[in-house]
Amino acid sequence: MLSVRWLFFRKRLGPLPGGYIKQLLSRVEGWLSYHEALYLYALAAAGPAEGKIVEIGSWKGKSTVILAKGSKQGRREEVYAIDPHKGGPDQEAHGHKDVDSEMEFRNNVRQEQVADQVRPMVMRSDEAATGWSGPVRLLWIDGDHSYEAVRQDFLLWEPFVAPGGVIAFHDTYAWEGPRRVVEEMVLVSRKFAVIGLVDSITAVKKLSGAEPLVLLRSYCLLFARYLYKLGRRHVLPGDLRKLSKAVMKWLSSVG
Ligand SMILES: C[S@@+](CC[C@H](N)C(=O)[O-])C[C@H]1O[C@@H](n2cnc3c(N)ncnc32)[C@H](O)[C@@H]1O
Repeated sequence: MLSVRWLFFRKRLGPLPGGYIKQLLSRVEGWLSYHEALYLYALAAAGPAEGKIVEIGSWKGKSTVILAKGSKQGRREEVYAIDPHKGGPDQEAHGHKDVDSEMEFRNNVRQEQVADQVRPMVMRSDEAATGWSGPVRLLWIDGDHSYEAVRQDFLLWEPFVAPGGVIAFHDTYAWEGPRRVVEEMVLVSRKFAVIGLVDSITAVKKLSGAEPLVLLRSYCLLFARYLYKLGRRHVLPGDLRKLSKAVMKWLSSVG
């Protein structure tokens, strides 16, 4: 995370609150690694472009709180947290049947003191997109993980992302849906450059013009990702997989 830390110092926002984030991760149920949480926080605090932050898939508010804390620290935009809070096949696969996560979500947001920074939208992402207007500078896609749903989230919400804004996808290796959407529709598109590969997050920037350095880093990240994926398939030794993962983190930035 060197480059993210460096950017933080440069922007004089203070160091990343690693201690708080570790405690939050153990307090609020959900699925985020420590480095993923740090990275989301940095994107929310210091990411490029202007506009709202939109989260698709809040569950009990783990990533919502991280995004809101980061955005608050950077004195930036509110987080629109979209989730019908009825669970679904992904949650059932994790043993959560017939859940209603709304109350815990609201309690967590309140207890972590970010209620003023979060706008809950208790509905499906396609319903939310229908009534949406205005630019989004950070779109966090972590809702229904089926291929069709992730594809729909991307197609419906990408047009709202401001030039220079960021789309971050979760679970982009082990989950077929997000991985295929990222590989088939995003990484191959000349509209986007990869800016962050942090654990299972893939973050891309919507290019707003010629950005040769951003593109150069994107190609380096993509090469490291290629090696990492060979390592995951045991085509390359495990040490090389670990090294490529560390390189991806090191090259990751917020803009
Ligand atoms: C993997 S969880 C999100 C985890 C959360 N981001 C965290 O940090 O803990 C996926 C969430 O997506 C929600 N979801 C499922 N279908 C959705 C849809 N069509 N629109 C928005 N959210 C959806 C589920 O209710 C569930 O809470």
